[in-house]
Amino acid sequence: MSKNNDEQFKNVISHAKEYGFVFPSSEIYDGLSAVYDYGQLGTELKNNIKTYWWKAMVQLNDNIVGIDSAIFMHPKIWKASGHVDGFNDPMIDNKDSKKRYRADQLIEDKIARFEKDGKTEKAKTLQSELDSALEADDLPRLKTLIEEYEIVCPISGTRNWTEVRQFNLMFSTQMGAMADGSDEVYLRPETAQGIFVNFLNVQKSGRMKIPFGIAQIGKAFRNEVIARQFIMRMREFEQMEMQFFVRPGTELEWYEKWKALRLKWHLALKPEASKYRYHDHVKLAHYANAAVDIEYEFPFGFKEVEGIHSRTDFDLSQHQKFSGKKMQYFDNEINQSYVPFVIETSIGLDRMFLTALCNAYEEQDLSTEDKQDSRRVLHLHPALAPIKAAILPLTKKDGLPEKAHEIVNALRLDFNIQYDEKDSIGKRYRRQDAIGTPLCITIDHQSLEDDTVTIRHRDSMEQERVAIAQLPQMVQAIAGWKGLLQELL
Ligand code: GAP
Repeated sequence: MSKNNDEQFKNVISHAKEYGFVFPSSEIYDGLSAVYDYGQLGTELKNNIKTYWWKAMVQLNDNIVGIDSAIFMHPKIWKASGHVDGFNDPMIDNKDSKKRYRADQLIEDKIARFEKDGKTEKAKTLQSELDSALEADDLPRLKTLIEEYEIVCPISGTRNWTEVRQFNLMFSTQMGAMADGSDEVYLRPETAQGIFVNFLNVQKSGRMKIPFGIAQIGKAFRNEVIARQFIMRMREFEQMEMQFFVRPGTELEWYEKWKALRLKWHLALKPEASKYRYHDHVKLAHYANAAVDIEYEFPFGFKEVEGIHSRTDFDLSQHQKFSGKKMQYFDNEINQSYVPFVIETSIGLDRMFLTALCNAYEEQDLSTEDKQDSRRVLHLHPALAPIKAAILPLTKKDGLPEKAHEIVNALRLDFNIQYDEKDSIGKRYRRQDAIGTPLCITIDHQSLEDDTVTIRHRDSMEQERVAIAQLPQMVQAIAGWKGLLQELL
């Protein structure tokens, strides 16, 4: 990360804390690694992202329904899905610093350093050596690469490494009180399996006809070997996943559709479009026949925000095998029963939150010849903004607060509104800019005479005079869901 980008990312993190978006978890006990709490404004933003996703997936599609499955599931599910045997990261410890690293990431960091120093050929060679070691699951080879390329521990600076070992990322706990370990259950590492095991329930109770989708938002847990970059890689996080069940043979057509639709969902929020790109998977998981990541350019580079995967019939077939229950669908259009194929869209809610924050944050220099001035502003899409409008009486007297409260009461049934009478109006504008409020509504003495107010727009900082009676329609047009959702039609 360049110094500027590094600085910018640090500023985003401290802004998120200063204004009540994200706090380190258990902070008064020095925090808990890679676990975070969402504060009063962060929770609003997170809820708005969830609502946007839910409305786009469930409300706008006749053939997608949503569920909420439990975090605890039968342990056999994770055997069937492959997570017990295959959900591993290769890890290595430095004996001097006692720090643990992901072996592949140490090598990837070295590749990034080669690239930064213009040593492109070396970077390419190491990348292909890493790829073939990972493909072959060759842990001793990963260790040799670390030694050959003289990779040192960033903390101790030494090359005193242990062997590379596999480390399963699932958290487990006990359910009930059996002494023989038969009561071990896992905290789900993805929400998807809760959808697969409910495929028959939803299909039958909802009389769903293929093609159809099941959506879910919920917590997932992974014991990441190294967790870094703030809420990018967490041990407890949230996913928004949708499994779309299709007739075998049509899956690649649906895959292309969902690939385009999901990028459209991101771009409707009007980020800088050049900050988004597709990254097709070259090496596919054994159960997939196509996969792509939607990546966003964070200050630390392009990284995955969402994955779209064509998962074939792998998961349903595995559950059929392990549970002994038929996971089939009778397709009366072709008079055949089959195990449906699946297209999955899977987005990390916390990563989407970070994307929205990084994309919105700006330190603006507003200095003129006569005066130094600046502001920190969050250019969030108004539909995602935690507060839709701030209601600001110009002074605390002359009946202005009472008039302002009338406006609060008229708007609060539909929108999240904030009343603020403290400090100068300029300071109050700056506070609202910093939390991304799209509209500031100022009540002054003229308001008492002609029932008009001043509206100040966050991004342009332009002001206009409008009738109080027009406010509900105006806030709705600017910050309501309709405008955003229409972009998706
Ligand atoms: N069901 C498929 C699945 O879970 P994944 O690529 O492992 O696929 C999907 O995860 C999304 O979940 C990622 O694109 C990312 O946004 C998010 N995600 C995965 N691991 C995460 C972590 N440790 N912290 C935060 N988000 C994570």
